[in-house]
Amino acid sequence: MSVHISAKKGEIAKVVLQPGDPLRAKYIAENFLTDVKLVSQTRGIFYFTGLYKGKEITVGASGMGVPSIGIYSYELFTEYDVDTIIRIGTCGAYTTDLKLFDLLNVENSASESTYAQFAWGIEGELIPHQGNAFEVINETASSLSINAKATNIHTSDIFYRKDAGIPAVAEKYNCLAVEMEAFALFANAKHLGKNAATILTVSDIIPTHEQISADERERALKPMIELALESAIK
Ligand code: HPA
Repeated sequence: MSVHISAKKGEIAKVVLQPGDPLRAKYIAENFLTDVKLVSQTRGIFYFTGLYKGKEITVGASGMGVPSIGIYSYELFTEYDVDTIIRIGTCGAYTTDLKLFDLLNVENSASESTYAQFAWGIEGELIPHQGNAFEVINETASSLSINAKATNIHTSDIFYRKDAGIPAVAEKYNCLAVEMEAFALFANAKHLGKNAATILTVSDIIPTHEQISADERERALKPMIELALESAIK
């Protein structure tokens, strides 16, 4: 057990897929894994371990935002000896060059967050993906003929804000989209020498207010889930 995860040592696989939403973790476990066991449900943040094509995989949620993924990814890496975390999430596009349902493989996260600096003394506004998971995802996407665009994204603490327009840090690093977690995941992995990647599905286009509807979400997320699972067994 760790402070926020009640699984026993050995009940979490070396590779973890991490959506934000606990119910998405449940959906993935129920629909894509076999021999599934619920290994933690502390605070309603579900972790399931099962098999995908014979390989042990854990899928469990990060919750929303930098503080939450900061906690869960740190405990997975340090208390459960996890080697690789692949975040699978949604993002808002800053540009109409991206379309709803597009898949992004995050190269760097740019953020105004002080998390990396105050937690680990990591300076700077930009943190890259860590280790080889990003490359494995790129190769897997090519082999599956899935288009996953390698790009920089903005990790923000803010979902609702008064000013429209692209925040300065996102502009500076040419971030095509915004989400709320990758920066902390990459910071933890960098500090600990672990592997971390983030795959995102575009769920909304900020300038036009287009959105994937609630009932489209399941279908929308399927290619991302398949890409993450196929990458996780490489
Ligand atoms: N902002 C932050 N995170 C998001 C968004 C957004 O517009 N859409 C999906 N995740």
